[in-house]
Amino acid sequence: MNTKKLWIAFTMVMVISFGILGYYGYEIYKEAPPIPKKVVTADGTVIFTASDIKDGQNVWQSIGGQEVGSVWGHGAYKAPDWTADWLHREAVFILDKLGEAEYAERYDKLDDEKQALLQKRLQNELRTNSYDFETGILHISALRLEAFKAISRHYANLFMDGEQEADLREAYAIPANSIKDADRMFKFNCFLFWATWSTVTERPGQEISYTNNWPPEKLVANEPSGSLLLWTGFSVIILIAGIGMLAWYYASHRDEEENSEVPAVNPLSGVKQTPSMKATLKYFWVVTALILVQILMGVVTAHYGVEGLAFYGFPLADFLPYSITRTWHIQLAIFWIATSWLATGLFIAPAVSGKEPKFQKLGVDILFGALLVIVLGSLAGQWFGVMQKLGLAENFWFGHQGYEYVDLGRFWQIFLFLGLFIWLFLMGRAIWPALQKRDENQHLLWMFLIASIAIAAFYGAGLMWGQQTHLTIASYWRWWVVHLWVEGFFEVFATVVIAFLFVRMQLLRPSIATASVLFSTVIFLSGGILGTFHHLYFAGTPTAVLAIGASFSALEVAPLVFMGFEAYHNIKISKATAWVAAYKWPIYFFVSVAFWNLLGAGVFGFLINPPIALYYMQGLNTTPVHAHTALFGVYGMLGIGLMLFVLRDMDLEAEWKEKPIKYAFWGLNIGLLLMVLLSVLPVGLAQTVASVKHGLWYARSAEFLETPFLETIRWMRVIGDTIFAVGALYLVWFVFGLKGGWSVKK
Ligand code: HEM
Ligand SMILES: [Fe+2]
Repeated sequence: MNTKKLWIAFTMVMVISFGILGYYGYEIYKEAPPIPKKVVTADGTVIFTASDIKDGQNVWQSIGGQEVGSVWGHGAYKAPDWTADWLHREAVFILDKLGEAEYAERYDKLDDEKQALLQKRLQNELRTNSYDFETGILHISALRLEAFKAISRHYANLFMDGEQEADLREAYAIPANSIKDADRMFKFNCFLFWATWSTVTERPGQEISYTNNWPPEKLVANEPSGSLLLWTGFSVIILIAGIGMLAWYYASHRDEEENSEVPAVNPLSGVKQTPSMKATLKYFWVVTALILVQILMGVVTAHYGVEGLAFYGFPLADFLPYSITRTWHIQLAIFWIATSWLATGLFIAPAVSGKEPKFQKLGVDILFGALLVIVLGSLAGQWFGVMQKLGLAENFWFGHQGYEYVDLGRFWQIFLFLGLFIWLFLMGRAIWPALQKRDENQHLLWMFLIASIAIAAFYGAGLMWGQQTHLTIASYWRWWVVHLWVEGFFEVFATVVIAFLFVRMQLLRPSIATASVLFSTVIFLSGGILGTFHHLYFAGTPTAVLAIGASFSALEVAPLVFMGFEAYHNIKISKATAWVAAYKWPIYFFVSVAFWNLLGAGVFGFLINPPIALYYMQGLNTTPVHAHTALFGVYGMLGIGLMLFVLRDMDLEAEWKEKPIKYAFWGLNIGLLLMVLLSVLPVGLAQTVASVKHGLWYARSAEFLETPFLETIRWMRVIGDTIFAVGALYLVWFVFGLKGGWSVKK
């Protein structure tokens, strides 16, 4: 296809996909599980109101929300999924009461015929939708009220300081008094009641709950629906078709691949560095420091996995509980990866045009200061939030929003959004002169600019929800940010930036790079944009969302299957000629980007992607298998590769010492592989079996996770984690050694 056709295809994919994403967004607004104005018993007593539920959601967010256990399967894996836990407790409570009333025996003492009868009664009670759409009132029976009170007591003891619940708190890594007052506690319970109600009550006129029968729980007849199976099959077929079409494309374009003449000397060796380019160096020091802190937080969080409230006996959770270390671990990952990319952009832009705009260095310095304030400010705010030192509104603005990957308070979100636009402005003005030349590089430059604009702009979707927005709707917008970043415009950015670096070094012809970048962009986005819905199968959305999500996200995997081409191509480039050898390690990190794109994003992503798979696996350790190998594997490795590339260009004279960077590369890659293969994946698969057999509540329960076999495989993480951490230390040692002199041959 020629460039013009590819541009047309790109435009069409954007317009059509966002049209559909928007249309179903509207459906999601309409079909979300209603929040009742009042919850009322048969005698007319009001138990709680909509504002209790909404405040309760804010209380949940203030303790870290999705960073402590999960709701509707989204969040952390240490504590239970609260909706699955509540549902199971509610079912057992009601069954026992029914058993005692009918047969004077608890449910588990009864023979199976009697059990079947009571189960049916329970199902009628819970599945029947007793919400009145006219009045907005939800009616519940006296028995259900009793269950609400009993479970509320349990949760109050758990989150406050019940003595009997101390062991459970340790198992869940939740410090005593995570919620400090009775009013907040009551509202938190109201929110959980409502969120659980949505998982079991049937949509009007349908035999499926608001969350498509998620979580699996046989007692209440939460079982996979037919459409789940249907769309699973369909998604596999789409994947095979997608792979087939791409194979044809690659085969038919193989001949164009032949390389350009490789220049005899590095064409960049004469390039003069402008002050603003030099000013990006400090960004990379921050990147390196943040990597270190991020991994430290990961170690602590993983340790809480086996010793819930302490670090080798030291009561660390008193002031740095799991909820905070996990938040920081995730947020720092995003920050350092972003910082590395931003700095790379700022370094490349003036180099491309050969022009240093006025005050560019000042801009780069100001942005640097702003980023520091955002990182430190948002992390501190989260600490104050989780330690319950803020009111609910302050918490929303400055503390912890409790939404994974966008945990930072709204003020910090806005600040970061502005920061991204300052970055765009700085990049745009530096690239502009090059864009006006209209030479053969212009298409790549435009793609680079578009990917950068998209990254900044899509962060704005994170501002679409407010303090008390419905959870389903907040989820919709949250995945606009998170998914459209990582499975949309980040992939584009990664492809463009790598191609562009090679084009500048004259190792790749611009025409070939342009065609392949545009083509992969069209392919990524045609699956990636609508693939967003694979995060919303069970979040209170209609079934169409599941169908679209499953089908389009399967398409995303097709290009990842062919990452071998990319890896092989890059290895070949690294051996092209003598002077390229200096770039060996940055290029090797790009090779590992391709590897993890295949394994982490492609294989482990598709492992959990078909609806029936995710139905049982959502919220199990199979998700961190994918999350680590895709997020660190692809974008972390890219961040490191870009950093090394820029550091390389900053001082082309210096000859790097091989050992530390080699150990860093292999330590990070082998450590990551062992972490998932020896530990996280086996835990996830064992949990999957438990989830299929007994339901999600069991797969996440302390009872199951503390069996000796699971304890052992969880401990096995230490092996991979240690190798990984050693690799990271070598990286840090190496980067600082470029300044300190110990990483350079004299
Ligand atoms: C490099 C690209 C990718 C990155 C960085 C990435 C990252 C992530 C992360 C961090 C999560 C965890 C979310 C959570 O904890 O709730 C996640 C979840 C998920 N990813 Fe990806 N992903 C990528 C590509 C893919 C692909 C290609 C697929 C499959 C088509 C996929 C399917 C999923 C699914 C189904 C979930 C939901 C899991 C759950 O809710 O439990 N991802 N992804
Ligand atoms: Fe996704």
